[in-house]
Amino acid sequence: MTIRLLGIFAGLGLTAVLVLWSLVPGLVNFAMPEKPEYYAFQEANIAPEGGFSFEGPLGTWDTQQLQRGYQVYKEVCSACHSLKYVAFRNLEDFGYTEEEVRAEAASWTVPGINQETGEAASRPGLPTDQFPSPYPNEIAARAANNNAVPPDLSLITKARKDGVNYIYSLMLGYTEPTAEDLAKSPDFETPDGLYFNEHFYNINIAMAPQLTPDRVTYADGTAATPEQMAADVTAFLAWAGEPSLIHRKQMGWFVILFLLFATGLAYLSKKQIWAELKSKKD
Ligand code: HEC
Repeated sequence: MTIRLLGIFAGLGLTAVLVLWSLVPGLVNFAMPEKPEYYAFQEANIAPEGGFSFEGPLGTWDTQQLQRGYQVYKEVCSACHSLKYVAFRNLEDFGYTEEEVRAEAASWTVPGINQETGEAASRPGLPTDQFPSPYPNEIAARAANNNAVPPDLSLITKARKDGVNYIYSLMLGYTEPTAEDLAKSPDFETPDGLYFNEHFYNINIAMAPQLTPDRVTYADGTAATPEQMAADVTAFLAWAGEPSLIHRKQMGWFVILFLLFATGLAYLSKKQIWAELKSKKD
């Protein structure tokens, strides 16, 4: 009897420790002030209307949207940003056939070598190539961008807090500082060559506004509003950062169902094993 009680208390104790462990850091976070002082200008992230199709436990990729986002990346962002962890063959995820991927890869120019002289040269891309970097190195990237480096975008939705909503907001966050903004920090001024963006962490960003209306002409005829392009390119970048996201969610459901099934089986076999002993006792 005492052993059984001890067991129960040990179990309760352990559960209490685990609950506290998961609760306390969350509460501490909750109690902390939202943003430190130097974020005086930074606005909270906004999300596209209805959110993204891949969010939530039952989310899925919208392949049409990924195709559009890819088009925005190719025609706009790739002039400055690389996507070095993604290969052209990964585009098959969007429903492109092998042939289409080969043709798409060939429309990019990637670094190679001249087979006869061994000197640096360039050649059309192959499905196995990764997306090329627009600059030969960091010095060239800085020289072209007011001394800032456009970061590689492969993992950017993972590298920022609230990644997808942040990228969406950043793309749409170019405004003029209002009098109210300026009152928060009287010394505030946007230096030459930088742009006021109320979602960037230090407000002045070296990237000029990109998604002006009709910046791209969508192959599927969708109207290219800034909001549409921002949502599409963000979905594309979320995919680039974790192509297996949806597969992972589906696997999670499978595992939960399997565990439920296994629990049921274990319960039934326990009942069967003990049935004989129980009937003897009675
Ligand atoms: C003309 C060059 C150029 C183009 C085109 C461009 N960017 Fe940028 N981008 C930059 C530079 C430069 C920075 C670094 C800004 C800084 O550190 O101040 C940057 C930074 C970023 C960042 C990181 C912001 C952060 O939190 O650090 C993201 C995300 C981004 N760009 C997304 C995009 C997307 C998406 C596109 C295409 C729609 C795009 N950029 C097109 C030059 C460009």
